[in-house]
Amino acid sequence: MALTSGTRARLHFGGDYNPEQWPERAWGEDVALMRDAGVTMVTVSVFSWSLLEPEPSRFNFGWLDRVLDLLWSAGITADLATGTASPPVWLVRAHPKMRPMTADGVWLEFGSRQGYCPSSPVFREHVRRLVTAMAEHFGEHPGLALWHVSNEYGDHVSRCWCPVSTTHFRRWLRDRYGAIEGLNDAWGTMHWSQAYSDWSQIEVPRRQPGPGNPTQLLDFARFSSDELLELFNLERRVLTDICPSVPVTTNFMGMFGELDYWHWARHEDVVSDDAYPDPADPKAHVTAAMNYDLMRSLRGGQPWLLLEQAPSAVNWRAVNVPKPPGLLRLWSLQAVARGADSVMFFQWRAPRYGAELLHSAMLPHRGTASRIWQEVNALGGEVGRLSEVAGSRVRADVCVLLDWDNWWALDAVESMPSARMRWRPLVDQFYSALHRLGVTIDFAHPAQDLSRYRLVIAPNLYLIRNEDAAQLTTFVLAGGTLVVGPFSGVVDENHHAHLGGYPGPLRDLLGIVVDEFWPLPDGASTRVEFHAFDAGHLSRACAWTEWLDVLDASVVARYTSGSLAGRAAITRRAAGRGNAWYVSAVLDDDGMDRLFVDVFSELRCLVNEMPTVEAVRRDGPVASYLFLLNHGDRPAKIRLAHPGTELLTGSPIADSIELAALGVAVIRQSNIPGRTGVGTQQ
Ligand code: GAL
Repeated sequence: MALTSGTRARLHFGGDYNPEQWPERAWGEDVALMRDAGVTMVTVSVFSWSLLEPEPSRFNFGWLDRVLDLLWSAGITADLATGTASPPVWLVRAHPKMRPMTADGVWLEFGSRQGYCPSSPVFREHVRRLVTAMAEHFGEHPGLALWHVSNEYGDHVSRCWCPVSTTHFRRWLRDRYGAIEGLNDAWGTMHWSQAYSDWSQIEVPRRQPGPGNPTQLLDFARFSSDELLELFNLERRVLTDICPSVPVTTNFMGMFGELDYWHWARHEDVVSDDAYPDPADPKAHVTAAMNYDLMRSLRGGQPWLLLEQAPSAVNWRAVNVPKPPGLLRLWSLQAVARGADSVMFFQWRAPRYGAELLHSAMLPHRGTASRIWQEVNALGGEVGRLSEVAGSRVRADVCVLLDWDNWWALDAVESMPSARMRWRPLVDQFYSALHRLGVTIDFAHPAQDLSRYRLVIAPNLYLIRNEDAAQLTTFVLAGGTLVVGPFSGVVDENHHAHLGGYPGPLRDLLGIVVDEFWPLPDGASTRVEFHAFDAGHLSRACAWTEWLDVLDASVVARYTSGSLAGRAAITRRAAGRGNAWYVSAVLDDDGMDRLFVDVFSELRCLVNEMPTVEAVRRDGPVASYLFLLNHGDRPAKIRLAHPGTELLTGSPIADSIELAALGVAVIRQSNIPGRTGVGTQQ
């Protein structure tokens, strides 16, 4: 569903706008400056409940009518928030038990935001009434482009341990298991005398004396994601009933561990994201790229919206480093390169008060003389020049598997061979290696149809369902290449061990069996020698190795020091028309690069080695847009296989282009099937 209002395809530019924090006489200046900066859409009323409904059932919408009219008179559309992200004090004081409770049994006090229990029936009822009133009142406004439900679900409160949540958890478990015996089987309650005879005996996993039941913890993670989704769906249903033609979103937070965004994205019309890469982190652009690839993948490659980013520094890290000149532009266009159809910020005008007083804004306290304003203003013009990119799509023939169930299983369980084996660092490591090689990837769920990919990479499949393993086997037999990372195939969806040796249902496909996990102490490492493609190349394994018995696979690399010296570290098995690789170690960067050079050379596809220049292509119906982003601090010269026109400057480009440090080019070329067709000289 396209954004309504101003339906001309374009990239949106704007940010969160909080006019309620300012006297009405300032609004005119806001809108005039927005026009100057090329703003096309703003997010309004995110935290306005106490003004929208100052007393129970007394709705006060006049101020927002005037805001929307003023914006629309300047051609600016609204991403209109339902206002439910922060309940007003009258509601909380009347129903103190609607506040969220921590795992230690503490009710959280009013005075910040998101102060509600996701399961609270009272809260839900008041949400329904406010959203219904909002939809009925504003649904026909010509400037309404998008409904913005609540805000960043789970940011502060993703789980609640209160008595109401407990009741809902029991209901959720009953739906899942039917009978208490089913729950006892799934939770393995014969361990440590945990058998239940009645649903009423079950509690949410509050703080316990020792390690909790792993399946209880996993189910609580699943339940908590579903519970917030139920709350979102309550609002979505009201909105789509009353305004069926207005698309609905809620802003995600990149690769957020608490909510199963695969599940969530199915219920949205458009995916939207808030991105806060840290300028102090030299790898921030890699993490950002990963988040953007996920956002694009959540709805099958559909363009998504970047709804929030900081114009410069945030205010919630220990040290909040600003974005140096040029970084705002580079990082904004990086999101567009990876499929965003908007560049938006938190927030329009820096506030005079409140917890975000010193967070950067498009219009800082200093006003239009400030550097940030100058950069924002220039960027608005450039985003306008990229309108034709809107709607075009990034294509990838490599995907990385991501399954929240697996993430939760690996991270929730306390008693593991090594506390260093966590899901996120593993995926970061695999993604970084692919990013260094310039490979554009999608994310995919292991249960989805993978047949359009040539290469599927699973950084980790600690939890794997038999049917997903069967799907991966079919994918390989049909000609695909699969790479499976360490500590995989250990448990099923109930967190019960796959018997017969790891990696369980992937054992035959991979042609190996893991005899024992062999984690390394902190600081220790083991040498790994690659010999299939590059005899004698040495890398290192750190944190994790495994004792592998090779059943039917070739050995690509071996451990050459430590207890496992001489044993296989990486294997490859030709199966059907494809290949299945197993990587038993956490490798250093060199090892990861070596691995993927081997994997890609086996696939006979060239890889662009572009350490600082990111190249991503978006394909439209008549043209293709090559984004080149120089994340380095030196100029880079890029050779092009095809001529084109650079859209930001309007210049024709023949066979090469020079990018300044932090420079960006967006080159329109005629549609070229396949690859990016670039190489770099630096
Ligand atoms: C986001 C949130 C915004 C604002 C911003 C500050 O998480 O949605 O309302 O607080 O962070 O960086």
